[in-house]
Amino acid sequence: MPFHPFAVEQFLSEMEHGVRFNFSESGVHPMSYAALFAMAQIDTEALFDTLVDYPQVNGFQTLRERIAALYDGAGAENVLVTVGATEANTLIANTLLEPGDNMVVFRPTYEQMAGNARNLGIELRLVNLIEDEGWAVDRDALAASVDDRTKIIHVVNPNNPTGGVLSIADRAAILASAERVGAWIVADEVYAGTERATDIPTASFWGQEARVIAINSMSKAYGLPGLRLGWLVAPQDMIPALWRRHEYASISASMMSMKLAEHALAPATRAKLTERARGLIRRGFETLTEALQEHPGVFSVVPPQASAMSFVKFDLPLGAEAFALRLLREQDVLVIPGNKFGLEGHFRFSSALPEPHLREGLARLNALTSEILANAG
Ligand SMILES: Cc1ncc(COP(=O)(O)O)c(C=O)c1O
Repeated sequence: MPFHPFAVEQFLSEMEHGVRFNFSESGVHPMSYAALFAMAQIDTEALFDTLVDYPQVNGFQTLRERIAALYDGAGAENVLVTVGATEANTLIANTLLEPGDNMVVFRPTYEQMAGNARNLGIELRLVNLIEDEGWAVDRDALAASVDDRTKIIHVVNPNNPTGGVLSIADRAAILASAERVGAWIVADEVYAGTERATDIPTASFWGQEARVIAINSMSKAYGLPGLRLGWLVAPQDMIPALWRRHEYASISASMMSMKLAEHALAPATRAKLTERARGLIRRGFETLTEALQEHPGVFSVVPPQASAMSFVKFDLPLGAEAFALRLLREQDVLVIPGNKFGLEGHFRFSSALPEPHLREGLARLNALTSEILANAG
């Protein structure tokens, strides 16, 4: 079976190091350890007494309790702590998907589950998110795409790369389709908590139906991607099968990451981290929209309801990849071309960054745009 690389992550890992204006990340600007320790009032002496040992493989009980408290009706026994949401997604694909199954995925979306499924030889059924309708689900296509071999409907909510949050009607359609054919809803919710236009967090799919696995991590909404700490929340009888695969994949997340995640998820610290993330996201999006107005008619964006990302549509006489490569080579600016998410004529731009840096990078994006337009005219 041919191997399908993970296009977005390959692009990022090959391009992002050393770039001066990196707008390709999807989370908010990361915290420093010093800032986290101060915010969470961590007793460093106690922390440094920790043995550099293997931690409890499925996650400390106290950490899993803290995570479970974020999900209605969940307990520590529903939680498996993983190395980022990345590992959680891979464990779920390897556990649930079997030959002959199909999986429904939305487009555009972060293609980690889809890529894992393709590499397992699973048929993918793509359902479009409709840009002109604010990235709404094509509900007729969704209803038509599920059948009794549909094992998973995969949802990224809020979405990467659009920042869209599913409407009530779209959520209901997903739940109805899953229920009709007995499919699992695998809900990657790493951007929940990064809402831009409201303080109400995006509701989890957990608890909406019996067959739901919810995924999250410290990477995006908390600005702590370097902890490489994530989790999944699943019905208790599913946990052993996922845990057995976790022992193969990584054995466990690291001791220190579990400790720091537990501090970060303490209610008072979590609230401060959320406030920080939302502040960066809201200011950053305003700066981005202001800068994109410099070339009327060239750029448009469905305002993201959450996340640091905007999926910007552009009208220029070159493709998404060519535009991104010129930005990188000529302006030292990195964005992700839309074709990495299956859509031409777009780029993904992350704007939850310190203001002066963001403004300078946007000025460079506009400078290249002016040059392209001048040469085209
Ligand atoms: C939707 C989605 N899920 C998972 C991940 C990976 O998250 P983590 O850093 O927790 O492994 C990303 C990273 O971009 C993402 O966008």
